Amino acid sequence: DPLTVGIDIGGSKVLAGVVDQAGKVLATEQRATPGRSVLAVEETIVEMVQGFEQTYDVAAVGIGAAGFVDATRSVVTFSPHLAWRDEPLRAAIADRVKLPVVVDNDANAAALAESRFGAGAGHRLVLCVTLGTGIGGALVIDHRVFRGANGMAGEFGHIQVVEDGHRCPCGNRGCWEQYASGNALVREARELILAGSPHAHRLSELVGGDPAQLTGPQITQAARDGDPLSVELLSDIGRWLGVGLAGMAAAFDPGCIVVGGGVSAAGDLLLVPTREAFSRALVGRGYRVEPPIVAAALGPSAGFIGAADMARSAARRSRRTR
Ligand code: BGC
Ligand code: NA
Ligand code: ZN
Repeated sequence: DPLTVGIDIGGSKVLAGVVDQAGKVLATEQRATPGRSVLAVEETIVEMVQGFEQTYDVAAVGIGAAGFVDATRSVVTFSPHLAWRDEPLRAAIADRVKLPVVVDNDANAAALAESRFGAGAGHRLVLCVTLGTGIGGALVIDHRVFRGANGMAGEFGHIQVVEDGHRCPCGNRGCWEQYASGNALVREARELILAGSPHAHRLSELVGGDPAQLTGPQITQAARDGDPLSVELLSDIGRWLGVGLAGMAAAFDPGCIVVGGGVSAAGDLLLVPTREAFSRALVGRGYRVEPPIVAAALGPSAGFIGAADMARSAARRSRRTR
């Protein structure tokens, strides 16, 4: 079986890798997402693929994109965090790399990888959320992503959880991802630094007093080092996450809930408060099986591993039709 390249284009970073048929990663590369320009993102994808092709025999390319992907898996119709609007991404890349290309939503790709090779393995119904710039979502049923009527199911991050709440780049207000994502974590921490909170001295110190410099991983590290505010902030995110997941569980009754994305690196600092809030909010608690809430096993690689796996199926299909 040939090797494929998977590329995960998130709101802040692009992660790519060469992956074999068992989901094993042979090489990786990471870059910052060139956020504002569609062409710059395309250029980045092409450069990464060509870079890998120097060393590996690449049969196909899978792209997990942080946005709404149409049913033909060719067009990114909309992205809250990036510049894509009705962007024919698949054709644009295929024209340049001369390989079969498949495009899917980033969280769909991550969820597929987790259900096949990771934390969801062994469950028939896996609900996956990825916490990064936004909240990505997917429901995987018997190792197939549930796509909805037009390819766009799983946009859990844009369910409204607060009326007149924080503005979301999707254009609405009060979306779940404004309360339980990496961006939400950083926004809250920055506000506390800016307000001169006496509890924010550790975080403020870390960034030399400039809140704009603060990143999510810094907050997670500070929490691990025992900074009480950082612990509290992660626990706030966890509570919003848990309540939202209880809603998801009420709707779908999953066998397992996988939490991935950058913020999931916080592990129990995030997931203990998540589980507590989940159990308190789950309808019918005490009279039903509660799904385990587990951290993604493939970490930040899940997205590109899943995308590479989708590319493999596409390569097989294109071989058969040739
Ligand atoms: C987007 C999703 C994406 C998620 C994670 C959300 O804001 O609407 O399409 O999967 O962020 O990147
Ligand atoms: Na999705
Ligand atoms: Zn939104």
